Amino acid sequence: MKTPEKDPHTEVETTGHSWDGIEELNTPLPRWWLWTFYATIIWGLIYIAAYPALPFFGSTSNGFLGWSARSSLEADLQQHKDRHASLNNTLVDAELSNLQTGQELRQYALARGAAVFTANCSQCHGAGAGGTVGYPNLLDNDWLWGGSLESITYIINHGIRNTSDPDAQFSEMPAFGEFLEEDDITSLTQFVTQLAQAKTKELNIDENTLFVENCSGCHGQNATGNESLGAPDLTDAIWLYGADSDSVEKTITDGRFGVMPAWGQRLSEADLRAVSIYVHALGGGE
Ligand code: HEC
Ligand code: HEC
Repeated sequence: MKTPEKDPHTEVETTGHSWDGIEELNTPLPRWWLWTFYATIIWGLIYIAAYPALPFFGSTSNGFLGWSARSSLEADLQQHKDRHASLNNTLVDAELSNLQTGQELRQYALARGAAVFTANCSQCHGAGAGGTVGYPNLLDNDWLWGGSLESITYIINHGIRNTSDPDAQFSEMPAFGEFLEEDDITSLTQFVTQLAQAKTKELNIDENTLFVENCSGCHGQNATGNESLGAPDLTDAIWLYGADSDSVEKTITDGRFGVMPAWGQRLSEADLRAVSIYVHALGGGE
């Protein structure tokens, strides 16, 4: 081994490597860099000891601080629940019809109801509650089953035509294909589509025996519907199953059976109340 020579210009030792007479200098690392490097190693060791860092089979080291992302999340959730617990209790105990005046509680119920709606109702009624074929629009003031807070709450709790809740609202649009002639169905279809048009509002419903005998019992003498049976108003331009004569004919021939699940057992009392207030407030509540 040769003793390293010094570069005559810089007085720095050379490594002994030389390329075409150019010597490589053995310049030491700057001191500040080296100390920073050692400090990061020490910091890393402290961090590993303090926090969950080392993976084991199915778990990790715990760290002497006892912190974990999971327990931090749980604490956050608990804090959130505690903050809302008193509002929830007040909501559960409140007389719903008086809520209009209890401003803060109402704001809270609306916000909570909107979240419950997005999670549980929007897949059928639409994100904006605008509905679609077979799933009613909840924004207008046209209600199949009534638009009072009480009826809305009942529907949400027990649902419609489901088999899981014995108190569900139940009624049915019968399939008239089984007992009416095709001609009668065609003429009824024509009559019903005309009913909804403003110009023919003066149609004499009580003179149409086919309608009076078969349909008035549920849809009413003026064909304006019956909320206790969920029978839609046939004189407005709002259609659950479509305004065109094909859809109307299909409704009369095959009947309809819209099912709305019961939420009474699935949602907490506070959530049920919140979503009822929310739906009632959407614009069409009576
Ligand atoms: C699986 C689909 C579905 C889901 C989910 C659903 N609904 Fe419904 N809902 C329906 C159907 C279908 C009807 C109409 C039933 C009928 O034809 O009478 C209805 C009717 C209603 C009515 C009565 C409307 C009226 O005009 O009288 C209200 C109020 C209502 N739903 C609220 C809700 C709320 C609130 C939720 C969420 C907690 C919800 N629905 C979730 C399908 C659903
Ligand atoms: C036993 C009660 C009952 C009778 C009788 C009845 N309906 Fe209905 N009808 C309903 C119900 C309930 C609905 C809503 C069905 C649903 O939402 O699933 C409905 C829905 C309809 C609709 C769809 C309305 C829309 O908005 O899309 C039309 C059209 C209709 N009925 C026409 C008739 C005609 C015409 C007759 C007579 C031939 C008749 N109904 C007899 C209960 C009845």
